[in-house]
Amino acid sequence: MSDVHPTARDGFQQGAHYDLHRPSYTDEIVKYTISRLLHTNNEGVKYTVLELGAGTGLFTRKMLQNLPREVTYLATDPSVGFLSVLREHSPDVTTAVCQATQIPLPDSSVENILCAQCFHWFATEAALQEMTRVLVPGGRIMLLYNNKLYKSVQWMTQMEAILDEYYDHTPRKFSGQWRETMESSPLVRFVEHKFMDGLPDMKGDKNFVVDHFTSISVIAKLTGTEFEGAVKKFHRILDEHFPGEDDIVMPLDSEFYCVEKC
Ligand SMILES: C[S@@+](CC[C@H](N)C(=O)[O-])C[C@H]1O[C@@H](n2cnc3c(N)ncnc32)[C@H](O)[C@@H]1O
Repeated sequence: MSDVHPTARDGFQQGAHYDLHRPSYTDEIVKYTISRLLHTNNEGVKYTVLELGAGTGLFTRKMLQNLPREVTYLATDPSVGFLSVLREHSPDVTTAVCQATQIPLPDSSVENILCAQCFHWFATEAALQEMTRVLVPGGRIMLLYNNKLYKSVQWMTQMEAILDEYYDHTPRKFSGQWRETMESSPLVRFVEHKFMDGLPDMKGDKNFVVDHFTSISVIAKLTGTEFEGAVKKFHRILDEHFPGEDDIVMPLDSEFYCVEKC
């Protein structure tokens, strides 16, 4: 049975479009994540890193570029289309199609679970139960996020207001519900939470910015006139704020959050 939210199922299909228009991750957060990985000599460990919701591998490929080759890494996602893009970029990494509530690994076989830009999609006690099942005692769960700084510039605030029209009750990182799940669970204990500078070069022309917004699941899942209507609304805002200007910067920060298995 699939626990994947219908909006994630339908909105995370077009891997190539997503991969081209979503931010990668800063060297700083990648190196920091690597410095926080738990390494044990426990018997039965199969993977140092299990990445859930790895998608097209934007975070995976940065990690793999920076990790020693001997680190065992399993990249997973429920979207077959997204994982196929990940495999094109990182043909040597082991992958599996799976959702957070059904991980095809034995108990206590993973030292660290990484979730980049995705934990809010499966922030439930059931998923934490499954994640902590596969973790070794004291094993870590690290969440990474690129946050668009919607409140920092007026045009981004207006783009966010359009997105709001489509979100309804769809899980959203900004709701903070992911954090409540973590902090109310008896299965994990808090380790750390920090913000860092984001990528400075998430920028492009108006089409690039609109393509970024159409890669967001609640828009990507739309079809026909509904999709075209959303695209027009995004363009209208950009035309108003950037007449004749085609080098638009999307301000971001990076967020790192870590818990460990109790
Ligand atoms: C915004 S994308 C992030 C992808 C990638 N980590 C990145 O940084 O670009 C969210 C990902 O979460 C995955 N996802 C959604 N529901 C999930 C679930 N229940 N279990 C595991 N992954 C899930 C989606 O398929 C999608 O690839």
